[in-house]
Amino acid sequence: MNSLEWVSFPPLGDDRGSLVAIEAGKTVPFEIKRVYYIFGTQEGVARGFHAHRNLKQVAVCVIGHCEMTLDNGSVRSMARLDSPTKGLVIGDLVWREMHNFSEDCVLLVLASEHYDEGDYIRDYAEFLAAVADSQPSV
Ligand code: TYD
Repeated sequence: MNSLEWVSFPPLGDDRGSLVAIEAGKTVPFEIKRVYYIFGTQEGVARGFHAHRNLKQVAVCVIGHCEMTLDNGSVRSMARLDSPTKGLVIGDLVWREMHNFSEDCVLLVLASEHYDEGDYIRDYAEFLAAVADSQPSV
């Protein structure tokens, strides 16, 4: 993953403050079927450590900050999420790890599919095998 893909959520601000509107299929590159958020993460806790076969997500840190490591099987990239106006795009078959959550961090995630435990790959060797299977042989 040489470059991380981000989407911008321009704030609709006025003198009262700011507002961000997120529209399925417009501001994010997929139809949103599920929204969840991670908050109250304890100090020193790391989350994730899995990939999905068929799930696209956009992660936005609406309060606080955290770090996300994305790994496509050949390149690992680290992203700092610290803005309610920037979403990190996470495609299919990407191993993700989340670290260094601030105490106040609220990480909002928009997802292209409903929750499906069967879509998770929680073993890194299995993830690498799935990536190899997905690539056309030359
Ligand atoms: P998990 O995906 O393992 O969290 P993380 O990757 O952030 O460490 O999810 C934690 C728990 O929440 C697990 O029991 C599954 C459940 N869960 C749902 O029921 N629905 C959801 O949409 C998500 C994301 C998790």
